[in-house]
Amino acid sequence: MPDPEPFEPVIIGFTCNWCSYRAADLAGTARVKYAPNVRLVRLMCSGRLDPTFVLKALASGADAVLITGCHPGECHYVEQNYKALRRFLLLRRTLAQMGIEPQRLRLVWASAAEGVRLAAAIDEMVEEVRALGPLHWPARPNGRVAQPEATPAEEVMA
Ligand code: FES
Repeated sequence: MPDPEPFEPVIIGFTCNWCSYRAADLAGTARVKYAPNVRLVRLMCSGRLDPTFVLKALASGADAVLITGCHPGECHYVEQNYKALRRFLLLRRTLAQMGIEPQRLRLVWASAAEGVRLAAAIDEMVEEVRALGPLHWPARPNGRVAQPEATPAEEVMA
């Protein structure tokens, strides 16, 4: 019988348009290799990150979430990244109370010039989450991950 496939974590990475998204782009154009496990979602600023984005990502099958943004004092929207920092700390505490390991949520500041640094942080996170194993949250008796309920079109339009 063949060996089972090794676990490859799925990580959702929220990036800021002005810094960390460009850092990831720079890493790509500079051919800096990093783990392909992170699916990047571009926001205009880390302050746009609603905590429900993180919860929905985890509930939809992600094994971890990476939040990135401009360094403190360098946010293009004055101090929105401080809001991101407060949300990150609150989320980590809330998730810990639900039994979710703190390594599954990480915050990284990365300027547009820090492609190598961002790539290294991604590799490190992937290794940590790989060691933790799949999240399977919210846990179901059959081991399957719950899918978020679809929002009826009338509610979206309202
Ligand atoms: S513009 Fe990058 S974190 Fe605000």
